[in-house]
Amino acid sequence: MSNSLFSVEEARQLARKRLPRMMFDFVDGASGDESLSDLNSRALDEIRLMPRVLVDVADRDLSSNILEQETGLPFGIAPMGMCALSWPGADQHMAREAAARRIPLCVSTASSSTLEQIIEDAEGHAWFQLYADQSGDFVDELIERAKASGYKVLILTVDVPIPSVRTRDLRNGFTFPMQWGPRQIWDFATHPRWSLTTVLQCFVAGMPRPMNYVTSTQGTKFIRSASRGRANWHFLEMLRDRWSGKLVVKGVQSHQDAIRIKAMGADAIYVSNHGGRQLNAAPTTIESLKVIRQAVGADMPLIFDGGIRSGEHVIKALASGANFAMVGRSAMYGLGAGGGSGLADILDVISNEASSV
Ligand SMILES: Cc1cc2nc3c(=O)[nH]c(=O)nc-3n(C[C@H](O)[C@H](O)[C@H](O)COP(=O)(O)O)c2cc1C
Repeated sequence: MSNSLFSVEEARQLARKRLPRMMFDFVDGASGDESLSDLNSRALDEIRLMPRVLVDVADRDLSSNILEQETGLPFGIAPMGMCALSWPGADQHMAREAAARRIPLCVSTASSSTLEQIIEDAEGHAWFQLYADQSGDFVDELIERAKASGYKVLILTVDVPIPSVRTRDLRNGFTFPMQWGPRQIWDFATHPRWSLTTVLQCFVAGMPRPMNYVTSTQGTKFIRSASRGRANWHFLEMLRDRWSGKLVVKGVQSHQDAIRIKAMGADAIYVSNHGGRQLNAAPTTIESLKVIRQAVGADMPLIFDGGIRSGEHVIKALASGANFAMVGRSAMYGLGAGGGSGLADILDVISNEASSV
């Protein structure tokens, strides 16, 4: 392996050094006292796997399938908004990896490139994540754009009814659009590698912006603190009627909600607590996964994220009832540590670990 990163934690430490503090904290941070973000990973660590012996495992195959799609790996990349803040061109790097590895890249409503560009770069290996944003017309337009550009899977994220309080972002004065002050200028000046690469990329592709908003004909502005509370049961019913492709509901933790979502015709439930970035008091996702699997039965596809920092974690999620896993911050740490090659290294690390567990 000619990689230069050998673990997600190593990538995280390097990203911490290389990214302006404001950007690192945006990725690494969580809500409240950030305990849930840590607990997600710790709960995965605490699961023990029983080694079974005398089985020939010389030939191993990590390929999988989810929602009638064949995938090269049993995990993909979770939806993350404004990825270009962690590394210029992040969406393109992720799309390229998704295409090469045949894994789904979940494209956020707040992605830094347009949803059309990303699915093209990902050679079709992209799913679209929808927020029930403040404008109904904007949501309608996004659904039509996703259909027209060939998305087969739509993920409705439902765990952001109101924006959470993220202390690190408040302390750093992290706002969108960016407010420039001495603190921010010092932060950027002391991280020249990131700042120079970002400035160069700005000449090529312009400032990082939430491009699905910028290219909307509705004039809807991206407001980071906007409520996504329009996503209620009625909205889900409407969406199920309108979207004939696969529909996934993301951010589910209660088994009662899972049962109702299944009954409403969703194709998969995405068990997630937003990586501890929303309700800090929520259960860990691995805890919810086991309860939801019991409640919905063996046939309902379950997608899992939250705290995955190794291939071992992926395997533990699958062993606990998930059909497929997604990595969030691990991918961002790879990007922050080494751009496209850092991301590739981290995906290799997680795959190789998963294959050898
Ligand atoms: C920087 C960042 C941005 C995110 N943006 C979104 C988003 O736009 N939509 C969404 O559904 N989830 C978003 N999430 C949550 C992720 O999809 C995922 O649930 C979470 O990162 C998984 O936890 P992990 O980071 O511990 O792997 C974001 C997470 C991060 C770290």
